[in-house]
Order: sequence, then C-alpha cells, then structure tokens
Amino acid sequence: MRKKFHFQCLTCGHEIDGFEEWFGNNQSCPKCGTNQVYTIYSTLKENLIDLLKTDKHISSLWHYFDFLPLNKKENIVSDGEGISPIQRWKFLEDFARNHYGLNVEVYVNRNDYSPATGTFKDKGATVAASVLKEHGIKEYVVASTGNTANAFAQYLAKAGISASIFVPQDSLRENFVHIGSLGQKVYIVKGDYAYAKKLAKEYAEKNGLLISIGNMDPLRLEAKKTTAFEIIRQLGKMPDVYIQAISGGTSPLALEKAFHDFQNLDILGEKPRMIFIQGDRCDPQVQAWKKAKAAGFPEGWEHDYPVIENPKTLVPTLATGNPVLYPRLAKLVKRTGGEYFSVNEEMAVDTSRLVAYEVAVKVGPASAIGILGFFEALKNNAIKDNESVFINMGEGVRRAITFLEEVSYTTEQVTDITDLKRFDRCKYKDFVWKPFYEHYT
Ligand SMILES: Cc1ncc(COP(=O)(O)O)c(C=O)c1O
Ligand SMILES: [Zn+2]
Repeated sequence: MRKKFHFQCLTCGHEIDGFEEWFGNNQSCPKCGTNQVYTIYSTLKENLIDLLKTDKHISSLWHYFDFLPLNKKENIVSDGEGISPIQRWKFLEDFARNHYGLNVEVYVNRNDYSPATGTFKDKGATVAASVLKEHGIKEYVVASTGNTANAFAQYLAKAGISASIFVPQDSLRENFVHIGSLGQKVYIVKGDYAYAKKLAKEYAEKNGLLISIGNMDPLRLEAKKTTAFEIIRQLGKMPDVYIQAISGGTSPLALEKAFHDFQNLDILGEKPRMIFIQGDRCDPQVQAWKKAKAAGFPEGWEHDYPVIENPKTLVPTLATGNPVLYPRLAKLVKRTGGEYFSVNEEMAVDTSRLVAYEVAVKVGPASAIGILGFFEALKNNAIKDNESVFINMGEGVRRAITFLEEVSYTTEQVTDITDLKRFDRCKYKDFVWKPFYEHYT
C-alpha cells in the first residue's frame, strides 16, 4: 500500500519516508543535513474540492485529515480549532471609501475564537500533539514568544506529553501562568527570543529530545496551510491581498505551501499579494525590504537583513529580531507583488480600542499591528480599487490583560447618585477615530 505521505528535502530533493525517519534523523535530511522539507501526499488532490464544498458542520481543521500528516484518526488531539469564522468588517471598508475613494472588501479571520488558547497557534499545536502521540513521543521542547508556547503547552498536556517551554523574559506575563497552571514546564529566559531558541536547542540536544524546529517545521506548516482551504470554503474565493502581522513567518510560508500543493489546479485561485506588517520597534524585515527596494533588488538582496538584539518593543509576541526566514519570506512578497510596512507600536492600543468600539471584538496587541497595517497599506497606495483584502488576525486578548487595561477608557469611580449621568456611547466615536484621522487621512 502507498504511504499517505512522505517528505521531500527542499535543498537536495531527497525523499524522507515519514516521521519515523525524520525524527530518527534529528529532523534533518539524511543526505544534506538541512531541515526544510515539504510534506508530499499521495491523496488525490481533487479530493479537496469536495472538502471545500461541504455544507456539513465542521468541527476542526481535521476536516482536512486527508491532507494532514497523520496516519490514524484515533490519534487526533483536538479542541475544535482552525475553523474560525471569517467576517466582513464594514467600518474598514467605509474608511477606505470615505478617505481614499476605494471600494474594497475587507475580511478578517477570527482566530481569537479558537477554543483552546484563543490564537491561530492552536492549529500547529493540534497537529503537533497528534503526530507526537502517534509516534509515542513523551517529551517535547518549544521556544516561543508566547502564543505558540501556550498552544503547545495545552495540546501536549491533553496528549499526556511533557512540554518544556522556553519564553523570553519580555513575553506577556499572563503567558507564564497559563503554561504553569497546566503543569507544563515554563522557563523564562533571561534574554531575547533568539536566546530562548538557543537555550531550548541546547537543552534538547543535551537530552536527546525532540524540539519544534520553527517556522518551517512541517507540523506547523501543514496545520496552517488549512487557512488557505478555509478561505476558499468560507469566502468562495482567494482575496487579492493578504495582510498579516509578521514575526517568524509561519502563516505565510504555510500559505505558500498550500499553493505549492495545488498549483495548476484551479482550486485555491491565485496567490494574494502578501503585505507583511511589523511594529516599528522590531522591524528588521521591513528595514531589509526598504533597503533592497531602494537599491532595485540587487543580486543576493534577500540575504541582506539586520539582526536586532534584545529588541525593546511594546509587542513582544512579534519580536523576532533575527528573521532567519526573511530570504524566503521576502522573495514571496516580491513574487506576489506585495509589500512590507512598519507601523507605530504606540497605536496598537488605539487600534484595539477602535475595533472594539466598531465591531465589539477585542483584539490583542499582535493582531492590532496587523489591522493597523491595513491603514498603512491604504496610505501607501498598496490596495487598489475593487480589491478584496484578507486580514489574518491571530489573537484576541485572552492573555493580554495589561494591554486591555490600556485600551479601556470608560471606568469612573462613583460614590452617590449625583455622580451619575446618562450614558451614550456615541460620544466616544470621535475619540476612538481621532488617532486614525490624524495619521491616516
Ligand atoms: C497573534 C499573532 N500574530 C502574528 C504572529 C506572527 O506569526 P508568523 O509570523 O509566525 O506567521 C504571531 C506569532 O507569534 C502571533 O502570535
Ligand atoms: Zn537534503
């Protein structure tokens, strides 16, 4: 019988039999030693068409089991993740029309709804936990800025797998307590994310343990590629523009993988223009891109990027100071005719406030950076008339209480009835829009 899937090395093309061989060879290619592979399925690709057409209730991304790297359904470890609703946000469309004269459709992926930990990192975690369970792995190591840490801690706990999680010290405090309360081990590393990754790697090597190998890890790529499937299933089309706050780049790289798998088949449509957003206090990819663009993309441009050590940022979730996958991500941006923009991190609070006011959705700091990117893209003429825009919003505010305290603005202390006045929330409209009128009109 043909195997459901195998891996192919992206460097030398060598074929790796499956997870036994991949894990057995320390998650690297036995021939060339690199660790970037694509998962290749023997499933008939056209089978996806029926999965996208279904009108049955879908309870998780395991709806796409045929295109996920697990052999037996009995090993699935799931909490109903990956099927978040995609909503149309009219207030952003109105802004584009009223201030830029553009008719655009704006869709936002509500990953904050993800039942387990409230972020799109639950997708990678369900696939990782299931595969590790299938292969009898009992211990796993992860380094993360916070959201992946939480998602993996939770799903691995559900699978009975011990997780040692390394997070940089500036990670949001709430992350630590969530992980710790699950009885998973959390190490707060004195240093930045790059150092947390280094320490995690050393720990894994010293003890012969498996470690999540980052943004190109097939466990994460395969999980997140289902985002492309969900766009088609829910919207019936691939949008013209894809906007996301970027850190290491798992989500766009996964989207690229989805397009690779279904190329030449008219299932997913055309790749959208990729617009990646970084906060201005840790934006090495934006800096590199601007430099390359100004120089006319000279030979080898994609390998020229700065490394920001110990970034001091208001959004630590996104703080990848050493973007090792920039060469791949930047080429994807260039190929799709996309762009990179930096946004003012101080406006993350304003953005979260605006969104909560307009659509009653509380978005976390990393998501706010992505949504702010929509305004930045408008200002820089990166969105055209009659286009559709998809914002991959990664998180809500579940572990961002301190941030939410900054967002909140109506609390008032009272002692008796004379302090109380009638309340009309309309009076806040100007207040929540003001920063956007100032910076984006
Ligand atoms: C909420 C949120 N948005 C965006 C990102 C960036 O994700 P990536 O660059 O890996 O696709 C992260 C990563 O931690 C995140 O947690
Ligand atoms: Zn190889």
